[in-house]
Amino acid sequence: MGHKTRKEVIHSFQVNFFAMGILNTLPWDSLDKELTTSKPSEFIMDILQKTCLHAICLKNPPSLKYRRRFLTELIKRHEMVAAEPLDELYEALGELMCAQEEDVCYKTYFLPTGDAVSLAENVALIAQGTTGLVTWEAALYLAEWALENTHIFKNKTVLELGSGIGLTGIVVCRSSSLTKYIFSDCHQTVLQRLKDNITNCLTNSGSNSASVSVEELHWENVSDEQLQRIQANTIIAADVVYDPETIACLVKLLSRLLNCKVQENQPDVYIASTVRNPQTYDCFKEELERAGLRYVIMKDSVAQVFPYNRASTIEMVKIYV
Ligand SMILES: C[S@@+](CC[C@H](N)C(=O)[O-])C[C@H]1O[C@@H](n2cnc3c(N)ncnc32)[C@H](O)[C@@H]1O
Repeated sequence: MGHKTRKEVIHSFQVNFFAMGILNTLPWDSLDKELTTSKPSEFIMDILQKTCLHAICLKNPPSLKYRRRFLTELIKRHEMVAAEPLDELYEALGELMCAQEEDVCYKTYFLPTGDAVSLAENVALIAQGTTGLVTWEAALYLAEWALENTHIFKNKTVLELGSGIGLTGIVVCRSSSLTKYIFSDCHQTVLQRLKDNITNCLTNSGSNSASVSVEELHWENVSDEQLQRIQANTIIAADVVYDPETIACLVKLLSRLLNCKVQENQPDVYIASTVRNPQTYDCFKEELERAGLRYVIMKDSVAQVFPYNRASTIEMVKIYV
């Protein structure tokens, strides 16, 4: 990796801090280098202002545990080079030591425009029997892909399956000129959190004036009336292929959606998946074939906008009849 300017280092800390990026992947080496050049306390103060003391953090903070670990690391790095301690660092950590951890924290993602999207997320990956209360990597990938393919959503009615807490849809609504976006999920707590996040992120955001709704939609028992009413031209979903028990009903629903023509046109269907278990993912592809559906693997390279763990394979398929 090339040399980062001071501004780039600060920006990278801000973006990663607000998305609660894995702490040891933050650019600590670049920070150490900068600290040895000049005015280490001023530099640390800049980082503090752009993270823990930033207005976004006061309103929508990352988890308490994350902020504590972040500040502890910052203090350690500062102590290694500075002659004098920096009071603001200890005051910020002191405040966090008295606070009580909550189940919900905020992750904030910055769009290429610089606008922030802050989502309430659960601290635990799986809670209340659902995976839907956190943002998964495939949702971030699909959002990055959507940012580069806004033409796909232009003037379309888009249905998202298994929206979870809404990152993908919120980014699509903020970046594309679509007609209507229908978020959907089956879990009551997820649906409530989704509605709260939509209210926070899409009301008065200056985003395009698409109509937005949230539907309770269970893949296993969607009525024909519900599908007819939705009339989606484009169907998207992120990280919905993970449970072998739900694959068959998901594929059956995709098949029904693909056969539900809107103005004589078949809808476009895009599914982004993190391939955690290749057997489960193969089972999805076999089920598509059994249902008479074809797919192509989308190989578009997508610019990295959001910080997330890119170690796992994420695959996106476009599905056809
Ligand atoms: C792994 S989460 C992915 C959430 C979001 N798309 C993301 O990637 O961050 C899977 C989502 O699918 C929803 N889901 C699982 N089974 C479902 C079903 N049978 N019907 C409708 N939604 C379902 C869950 O409630 C959950 O929100």
